[in-house]
Amino acid sequence: MSVRRLAIFLLGLCLLCVNFMPEEQQAMNSLVIEADAGKHTINKNIYGHFSEHLGRCIYEGYWVGEDSSIPNVRGIRQDVVEALRKIEIPVLRWPGGCFADDYHWMDGIGPRGDRPTLINTHWGGVTENNHFGTHEFLDLCEQLGCEPYVCGNVGSGSVKEMRDWVEYITFDGTSPMADLRRGNGRNEPWKLKYFGVGNENWGCGGNMRPEFYADVYRRFQTYVRNFSGNRIYKIACGSYGENYEWTEVLMREAASQMHGLSYHYYTVPGGWGNKNSATEFDESDWFETMRLGLKIDDYIAEHSTIMDRYDPEKRVGMIVDEWGAWYLVEPETNPGFLYQQSTLRDALMAGLNLNIFNSHCERVQMANLAQTINVLQSLILTKDENIVLTPTYHVFDMYKVHQDAIMLPVRIQCRDYVFEEEKIPCLNVSASRDDEGKIHVSLCNFDPNKAVKVTCELRGFPPPNLKGHVLTADRINSFNTFKNPNEVKPRKFDAFSLKGSTVTINLPAKSVVVVEISK
Ligand code: AHR
Repeated sequence: MSVRRLAIFLLGLCLLCVNFMPEEQQAMNSLVIEADAGKHTINKNIYGHFSEHLGRCIYEGYWVGEDSSIPNVRGIRQDVVEALRKIEIPVLRWPGGCFADDYHWMDGIGPRGDRPTLINTHWGGVTENNHFGTHEFLDLCEQLGCEPYVCGNVGSGSVKEMRDWVEYITFDGTSPMADLRRGNGRNEPWKLKYFGVGNENWGCGGNMRPEFYADVYRRFQTYVRNFSGNRIYKIACGSYGENYEWTEVLMREAASQMHGLSYHYYTVPGGWGNKNSATEFDESDWFETMRLGLKIDDYIAEHSTIMDRYDPEKRVGMIVDEWGAWYLVEPETNPGFLYQQSTLRDALMAGLNLNIFNSHCERVQMANLAQTINVLQSLILTKDENIVLTPTYHVFDMYKVHQDAIMLPVRIQCRDYVFEEEKIPCLNVSASRDDEGKIHVSLCNFDPNKAVKVTCELRGFPPPNLKGHVLTADRINSFNTFKNPNEVKPRKFDAFSLKGSTVTINLPAKSVVVVEISK
């Protein structure tokens, strides 16, 4: 037998052996975590959220009004505030979305009964009463203990309108806008760090070409002033999906005048014209959702490479200010309200996206899930005085340990999750070290049929104490309802063992697990 033939024979034999080995003996699923390395901080704002005047997000979701029988503080429902405080929401983007470029902030100040109405042309054509405006939003952020991120109107607004909004919110001296604010009951200015100069200006925000928007951005941002010691982090409207041209032009023409450039990516299994049901789906839809969700990793990498050419120091942050899964609306609900349920599939979606943002934390400085309450991939659903926490909420709760921690490089080797002709890696992971020295590893097992045994070697860190949480459920489409709010909820996890500096973790099928390793 020739040497070549012998080599092929031996290789074939090895592959055969691996195939017949019980999974626990296959060294295929392994992680190496450089526990004493790590240079970049996971900005806590990666765990941010987005809330638009859309459907029942603002009204009913946050705002019930001061006279409501639902417990509220100055009109803002307290069960929701309490739930979002628990996950340590760091930043909230408002008022849109597409709504932002149709919103005129002056309509939303002053006595509520005197505020003009407006037609919400993007979302159901309903009449907006403007009862939730600037004061209410900034009050909400104070109650949540999070940073406000305001998105200004470029598409149908004026430079003066945008300039005046910033003066109204942040100026502490005597001026027409500061005096107007005082007249409306707020003496002290607010601090406002994050300001977006338009939203999706390539689409609903004005259908502009990148060259045109770059010039418009340069003009508008000039008048977004730093008043009274307040320093604004200016965010230009960025790209979506694979539109690399927009990023190229914006970086080339305007990088020096921005602090952040936004980016949007929605996971839409079936495509825009043929969306999935949020709850009635099979394994092929599950697989497709994970496959499409994972694409954001390459998209971020590609947009970052373009940004690197103009900004090798990574001064400009990538702000993923809209992301999440987008399905069909729930039956018998207003199609313009985008109300969808959230299942275990969305927990995996949240887990994989957050892992990917963590791993790109050198460039990604903020991310905002669309859209917090009663819209798209929500954390919370409300019905009158009741609320229900979705599987997505629980992932944010489990992952909050990564906020402001140092990202640790992870090398992953794992088997594939194969469905029909296609495959994706069965595992998706990120790791970080917090300021107490604790290490957290978050893992997603996409395979809905098989558990995964994974060895995790911690370089430079002897790991004596382990604890963890797992989120899984009986079915891929299990979800929480008002009647049964605890169908999908995290449980204590202890399916791990320790040998030397290697932890072996048994991940259940279709699960999200976070393990804490401490000295
Ligand atoms: O989140 C729903 C919509 O999706 C937003 O208003 C818009 O920015 C995006 O197209």
